[in-house]
Amino acid sequence: MTFRARHLLGIEHLHPTEITTLLDLADKYADQTRNGTVDKTVLAGMTQINMFFENSTRTQASFEIAGKRLGADVMNMAMQASSIKKGETLIDTALTLNAMHPDLLVVRHPNSGAVDLLAQKVNGAVLNAGDGRHEHPTQALLDALTIRRAKGRLHRLSIAICGDIAHSRVARSNIMLLGKMENRVRLIGPPTLMPSGIGEFGVEVFDNMEEGLKDVDVVMMLRLQKERMDGGFIPSEREYFHRYGLDAAKLAHAKPDAIVMHPGPMNRGVEIDGNIADDINRSVIQTQVEMGVAVRMAAMDLLAQNLRASRQAEVMA
Ligand code: NCD
Repeated sequence: MTFRARHLLGIEHLHPTEITTLLDLADKYADQTRNGTVDKTVLAGMTQINMFFENSTRTQASFEIAGKRLGADVMNMAMQASSIKKGETLIDTALTLNAMHPDLLVVRHPNSGAVDLLAQKVNGAVLNAGDGRHEHPTQALLDALTIRRAKGRLHRLSIAICGDIAHSRVARSNIMLLGKMENRVRLIGPPTLMPSGIGEFGVEVFDNMEEGLKDVDVVMMLRLQKERMDGGFIPSEREYFHRYGLDAAKLAHAKPDAIVMHPGPMNRGVEIDGNIADDINRSVIQTQVEMGVAVRMAAMDLLAQNLRASRQAEVMA
Protein backbone atom coordinates (compact mmCIF):
# COMPACT_ATOMS: atom_id res chain seq x y z
CA MET A 1 0.00 0.00 0.00
CA THR A 2 1.40 3.35 -0.99
CA PHE A 3 -0.83 5.48 1.25
CA ARG A 4 -1.09 3.99 4.71
CA ALA A 5 -2.25 6.86 6.89
CA ARG A 6 -5.47 6.46 8.85
CA HIS A 7 -5.92 10.20 9.31
CA LEU A 8 -4.49 13.20 7.50
CA LEU A 9 -3.27 15.26 10.44
CA GLY A 10 -0.17 16.82 8.97
CA ILE A 11 2.63 16.60 6.45
CA GLU A 12 5.12 15.73 9.18
CA HIS A 13 4.35 12.00 9.22
CA LEU A 14 3.79 11.50 5.50
CA HIS A 15 6.39 9.62 3.47
CA PRO A 16 7.41 11.15 0.10
CA THR A 17 5.81 8.18 -1.72
CA GLU A 18 2.51 8.85 0.11
CA ILE A 19 2.70 12.48 -1.00
CA THR A 20 3.31 11.40 -4.61
CA THR A 21 0.47 8.86 -4.49
CA LEU A 22 -1.94 11.52 -3.26
CA LEU A 23 -0.78 14.10 -5.80
CA ASP A 24 -1.05 11.61 -8.68
CA LEU A 25 -4.64 10.82 -7.74
CA ALA A 26 -5.45 14.51 -7.26
CA ASP A 27 -3.96 15.26 -10.68
CA LYS A 28 -6.37 12.71 -12.17
CA TYR A 29 -9.30 14.21 -10.27
CA ALA A 30 -8.37 17.71 -11.50
CA ASP A 31 -8.49 16.52 -15.13
CA GLN A 32 -11.70 14.52 -14.58
CA THR A 33 -13.34 17.55 -13.01
CA ARG A 34 -12.46 19.65 -16.06
CA ASN A 35 -13.83 16.92 -18.39
CA GLY A 36 -16.89 16.19 -16.30
CA THR A 37 -15.96 12.50 -15.94
CA VAL A 38 -15.70 12.12 -12.15
CA ASP A 39 -17.10 8.85 -10.75
CA LYS A 40 -19.79 9.99 -8.30
CA THR A 41 -19.83 6.69 -6.43
CA VAL A 42 -16.32 6.80 -4.95
CA LEU A 43 -17.58 8.08 -1.57
CA ALA A 44 -21.15 6.81 -1.88
CA GLY A 45 -22.52 5.74 1.50
CA MET A 46 -19.85 7.73 3.37
CA THR A 47 -20.88 10.44 5.83
CA GLN A 48 -18.60 13.47 5.94
CA ILE A 49 -18.90 16.04 8.72
CA ASN A 50 -17.17 19.41 8.44
CA MET A 51 -16.39 21.03 11.79
CA PHE A 52 -14.88 24.48 11.43
CA PHE A 53 -14.17 26.11 14.80
CA GLU A 54 -12.44 28.96 12.96
CA ASN A 55 -13.51 31.09 9.99
CA SER A 56 -12.96 29.77 6.51
CA THR A 57 -14.13 30.46 2.97
CA ARG A 58 -11.98 28.41 0.61
CA THR A 59 -11.13 25.42 2.73
CA GLN A 60 -14.64 24.69 3.95
CA ALA A 61 -16.26 25.20 0.55
CA SER A 62 -13.54 23.10 -1.05
CA PHE A 63 -14.00 20.15 1.33
CA GLU A 64 -17.77 20.31 0.89
CA ILE A 65 -17.58 20.37 -2.91
CA ALA A 66 -14.93 17.62 -2.93
CA GLY A 67 -17.12 15.33 -0.82
CA LYS A 68 -20.25 16.01 -2.86
CA ARG A 69 -18.41 15.54 -6.14
CA LEU A 70 -17.50 12.00 -5.05
CA GLY A 71 -20.97 11.21 -3.73
CA ALA A 72 -20.49 11.50 0.06
CA ASP A 73 -23.29 12.71 2.34
CA VAL A 74 -21.85 15.99 3.59
CA MET A 75 -22.94 17.83 6.69
CA ASN A 76 -21.58 21.21 7.82
CA MET A 77 -21.72 21.83 11.55
CA ALA A 78 -22.25 25.51 12.35
CA MET A 79 -19.39 26.23 14.71
CA GLN A 80 -19.46 29.93 15.51
CA ALA A 81 -16.23 31.46 16.75
CA SER A 82 -18.06 32.57 19.91
CA SER A 83 -18.94 29.01 20.92
CA ILE A 84 -15.35 27.80 20.98
CA LYS A 85 -14.53 26.05 24.19
CA LYS A 86 -11.39 24.07 24.77
CA GLY A 87 -10.46 20.80 26.41
CA GLU A 88 -13.34 18.59 27.50
CA THR A 89 -15.85 20.43 25.38
CA LEU A 90 -13.99 19.62 22.20
CA ILE A 91 -13.70 15.99 23.23
CA ASP A 92 -17.36 15.87 24.25
CA THR A 93 -18.29 17.27 20.86
CA ALA A 94 -16.11 14.66 19.19
CA LEU A 95 -17.69 11.84 21.19
CA THR A 96 -21.20 13.07 20.43
CA LEU A 97 -20.50 13.18 16.72
CA ASN A 98 -18.68 9.88 16.85
CA ALA A 99 -21.84 8.23 18.16
CA MET A 100 -23.50 9.18 14.86
CA HIS A 101 -20.88 7.16 12.95
CA PRO A 102 -19.34 9.69 10.60
CA ASP A 103 -16.77 8.20 8.24
CA LEU A 104 -14.84 11.38 7.42
CA LEU A 105 -14.38 14.26 9.85
CA VAL A 106 -12.90 17.49 8.55
CA VAL A 107 -11.76 19.70 11.41
CA ARG A 108 -10.36 23.23 11.69
CA HIS A 109 -9.50 24.54 15.15
CA PRO A 110 -7.63 27.61 16.48
CA ASN A 111 -5.51 25.52 18.86
CA SER A 112 -2.42 23.69 17.64
CA GLY A 113 -2.81 20.00 18.41
CA ALA A 114 -6.60 20.08 18.89
CA VAL A 115 -7.25 18.08 15.72
CA ASP A 116 -4.75 15.35 16.72
CA LEU A 117 -6.49 15.12 20.09
CA LEU A 118 -9.88 14.77 18.47
CA ALA A 119 -8.57 12.08 16.10
CA GLN A 120 -7.72 9.89 19.11
CA LYS A 121 -11.37 9.88 20.19
CA VAL A 122 -13.21 8.94 17.03
CA ASN A 123 -13.56 5.87 14.81
CA GLY A 124 -13.69 7.66 11.46
CA ALA A 125 -10.86 9.23 9.48
CA VAL A 126 -9.94 12.78 10.51
CA LEU A 127 -8.64 15.41 8.08
CA ASN A 128 -6.91 18.43 9.54
CA ALA A 129 -8.23 21.57 7.82
CA GLY A 130 -5.83 23.77 9.84
CA ASP A 131 -4.97 23.70 13.56
CA GLY A 132 -3.60 26.91 15.07
CA ARG A 133 -0.07 27.59 13.85
CA HIS A 134 0.66 23.89 13.54
CA GLU A 135 -0.34 22.27 10.24
CA HIS A 136 -2.60 22.70 7.21
CA PRO A 137 -1.74 19.59 5.20
CA THR A 138 -4.28 19.89 2.37
CA GLN A 139 -3.09 23.45 1.71
CA ALA A 140 0.53 22.28 1.34
CA LEU A 141 -0.63 19.43 -0.91
CA LEU A 142 -2.69 21.71 -3.14
CA ASP A 143 0.25 24.11 -3.34
CA ALA A 144 2.49 21.19 -4.32
CA LEU A 145 0.10 20.05 -7.04
CA THR A 146 -0.16 23.61 -8.38
CA ILE A 147 3.65 23.88 -8.50
CA ARG A 148 4.02 20.44 -10.10
CA ARG A 149 1.53 21.27 -12.84
CA ALA A 150 3.05 24.70 -13.53
CA LYS A 151 6.72 23.67 -13.39
CA GLY A 152 6.46 20.07 -14.59
CA ARG A 153 8.23 18.78 -11.47
CA LEU A 154 8.27 19.01 -7.68
CA HIS A 155 11.98 18.67 -6.91
CA ARG A 156 15.09 20.83 -7.25
CA LEU A 157 13.04 24.01 -7.34
CA SER A 158 13.89 27.17 -5.46
CA ILE A 159 10.84 28.38 -3.54
CA ALA A 160 10.49 31.56 -1.48
CA ILE A 161 7.83 31.72 1.25
CA CYS A 162 7.35 35.35 2.23
CA GLY A 163 5.78 37.30 5.06
CA ASP A 164 4.26 36.18 8.34
CA ILE A 165 5.99 32.82 8.76
CA ALA A 166 5.74 32.76 12.55
CA HIS A 167 1.94 32.53 12.70
CA SER A 168 1.46 30.43 9.60
CA ARG A 169 0.45 26.76 9.55
CA VAL A 170 0.51 27.07 5.75
CA ALA A 171 4.22 27.93 5.87
CA ARG A 172 4.97 25.13 8.33
CA SER A 173 3.25 22.43 6.27
CA ASN A 174 4.80 23.77 3.06
CA ILE A 175 8.32 23.87 4.51
CA MET A 176 8.01 20.21 5.48
CA LEU A 177 6.46 19.06 2.21
CA LEU A 178 8.83 20.97 -0.06
CA GLY A 179 11.80 19.81 2.01
CA LYS A 180 10.71 16.15 1.80
CA MET A 181 10.50 16.49 -1.98
CA GLU A 182 14.04 17.93 -2.11
CA ASN A 183 13.48 21.54 -2.98
CA ARG A 184 15.36 24.58 -1.72
CA VAL A 185 13.17 26.67 0.54
CA ARG A 186 13.88 30.30 1.41
CA LEU A 187 11.93 32.22 4.01
CA ILE A 188 11.69 35.99 3.63
CA GLY A 189 10.19 38.32 6.20
CA PRO A 190 10.89 40.66 9.08
CA PRO A 191 12.77 38.99 11.96
CA THR A 192 9.75 39.64 14.23
CA LEU A 193 7.67 37.34 12.01
CA MET A 194 10.20 34.47 11.86
CA PRO A 195 9.59 31.60 14.27
CA SER A 196 12.30 30.90 16.82
CA GLY A 197 14.43 27.85 16.08
CA ILE A 198 13.91 28.29 12.36
CA GLY A 199 17.48 27.05 11.76
CA GLU A 200 16.33 23.46 12.38
CA PHE A 201 14.06 23.48 9.33
CA GLY A 202 16.90 23.35 6.79
CA VAL A 203 15.85 26.59 5.11
CA GLU A 204 17.63 29.84 4.22
CA VAL A 205 16.31 32.96 5.93
CA PHE A 206 16.32 36.50 4.49
CA ASP A 207 14.89 39.77 5.75
CA ASN A 208 15.23 41.48 2.40
CA MET A 209 12.91 40.66 -0.52
CA GLU A 210 15.32 41.66 -3.27
CA GLU A 211 18.00 39.26 -2.02
CA GLY A 212 15.67 36.46 -1.02
CA LEU A 213 13.76 36.42 -4.31
CA LYS A 214 16.87 36.26 -6.47
CA ASP A 215 16.38 33.56 -9.13
CA VAL A 216 13.59 31.68 -7.35
CA ASP A 217 11.11 29.55 -9.35
CA VAL A 218 8.16 30.10 -7.01
CA VAL A 219 7.11 33.06 -4.86
CA MET A 220 4.58 32.19 -2.17
CA MET A 221 3.06 35.15 -0.33
CA LEU A 222 1.37 34.91 3.07
CA ARG A 223 -1.21 37.05 4.83
CA LEU A 224 -0.32 38.93 8.02
CA GLN A 225 -2.25 36.81 10.54
CA LYS A 226 -3.30 39.65 12.82
CA GLU A 227 -5.72 37.43 14.71
CA ARG A 228 -2.71 35.49 16.00
CA MET A 229 -0.63 38.58 16.88
CA ASP A 230 -0.75 40.14 20.30
CA GLY A 231 1.45 43.17 19.80
CA GLY A 232 3.39 45.34 17.38
CA PHE A 233 5.00 42.89 15.00
CA ILE A 234 5.14 45.43 12.16
CA PRO A 235 5.49 49.24 12.21
CA SER A 236 2.54 49.88 9.83
CA GLU A 237 0.86 48.17 6.89
CA ARG A 238 2.19 50.86 4.56
CA GLU A 239 5.74 50.35 5.71
CA TYR A 240 5.25 46.59 5.53
CA PHE A 241 4.07 46.78 1.91
CA HIS A 242 7.02 48.97 1.03
CA ARG A 243 9.55 46.47 2.43
CA TYR A 244 7.87 43.09 2.06
CA GLY A 245 4.85 43.50 -0.22
CA LEU A 246 5.21 41.77 -3.58
CA ASP A 247 5.15 44.27 -6.45
CA ALA A 248 6.55 44.20 -9.99
CA ALA A 249 9.91 45.67 -8.95
CA LYS A 250 10.54 43.01 -6.30
CA LEU A 251 9.21 40.19 -8.49
CA ALA A 252 11.72 41.19 -11.18
CA HIS A 253 14.45 39.61 -9.00
CA ALA A 254 12.88 36.15 -9.32
CA LYS A 255 13.31 34.00 -12.46
CA PRO A 256 11.45 35.46 -15.48
CA ASP A 257 9.04 32.50 -15.43
CA ALA A 258 8.57 32.44 -11.64
CA ILE A 259 4.99 31.82 -10.52
CA VAL A 260 3.21 33.77 -7.77
CA MET A 261 1.11 31.98 -5.17
CA HIS A 262 -1.08 32.97 -2.21
CA PRO A 263 -3.23 30.64 -0.08
CA GLY A 264 -5.84 33.34 0.47
CA PRO A 265 -7.46 35.28 1.96
CA MET A 266 -5.40 38.04 0.35
CA ASN A 267 -4.89 41.52 1.69
CA ARG A 268 -4.24 43.54 -1.45
CA GLY A 269 -1.83 46.38 -0.88
CA VAL A 270 -0.49 44.81 2.33
CA GLU A 271 1.46 41.68 1.35
CA ILE A 272 0.73 41.76 -2.40
CA ASP A 273 0.06 44.33 -5.09
CA GLY A 274 -3.37 43.67 -6.61
CA ASN A 275 -1.95 43.92 -10.13
CA ILE A 276 0.46 41.04 -9.47
CA ALA A 277 -2.28 38.91 -7.93
CA ASP A 278 -4.42 39.43 -11.05
CA ASP A 279 -1.63 38.95 -13.60
CA ILE A 280 -2.65 35.75 -15.40
CA ASN A 281 0.88 35.31 -16.73
CA ARG A 282 2.40 35.09 -13.25
CA SER A 283 -0.28 34.40 -10.66
CA VAL A 284 -1.58 30.85 -10.12
CA ILE A 285 -3.82 31.86 -7.21
CA GLN A 286 -7.03 30.68 -8.90
CA THR A 287 -5.35 27.41 -9.91
CA GLN A 288 -4.51 26.85 -6.25
CA VAL A 289 -8.22 27.04 -5.44
CA GLU A 290 -9.05 24.63 -8.28
CA MET A 291 -6.36 22.16 -7.17
CA GLY A 292 -7.67 22.44 -3.62
CA VAL A 293 -10.85 20.60 -4.53
CA ALA A 294 -8.90 17.91 -6.42
CA VAL A 295 -6.47 17.36 -3.53
CA ARG A 296 -9.32 17.04 -1.03
CA MET A 297 -11.10 14.56 -3.30
CA ALA A 298 -7.91 12.47 -3.43
CA ALA A 299 -7.28 12.71 0.31
CA MET A 300 -10.82 11.61 1.21
CA ASP A 301 -10.77 8.84 -1.40
CA LEU A 302 -7.50 7.39 -0.03
CA LEU A 303 -8.60 7.65 3.61
CA ALA A 304 -11.97 6.08 2.76
CA GLN A 305 -10.17 3.16 1.08
CA ASN A 306 -8.06 2.62 4.21
CA LEU A 307 -11.14 2.90 6.41
CA ARG A 308 -13.00 0.28 4.35
CA ALA A 309 -9.98 -2.02 4.45
CA SER A 310 -9.63 -1.77 8.24
CA ARG A 311 -13.37 -2.37 8.73
CA GLN A 312 -13.13 -5.38 6.47
CA ALA A 313 -10.18 -6.68 8.49
CA GLU A 314 -12.19 -6.27 11.73
CA VAL A 315 -15.10 -8.26 10.28
CA MET A 316 -12.73 -11.05 9.24
CA ALA A 317 -10.98 -11.18 12.63
C1 NCD B 1 -4.99 29.99 5.41
C2 NCD B 1 -5.37 29.41 6.74
O1 NCD B 1 -6.51 29.48 7.16
O2 NCD B 1 -4.47 28.85 7.34
N1 NCD B 1 -5.99 30.08 4.49
C3 NCD B 1 -6.43 28.98 3.83
O3 NCD B 1 -6.72 27.96 4.39
N2 NCD B 1 -6.48 29.07 2.49
C4 NCD B 1 -4.12 31.17 5.50
C5 NCD B 1 -4.62 32.40 6.19
O4 NCD B 1 -5.56 32.40 6.96
O5 NCD B 1 -3.96 33.44 5.97
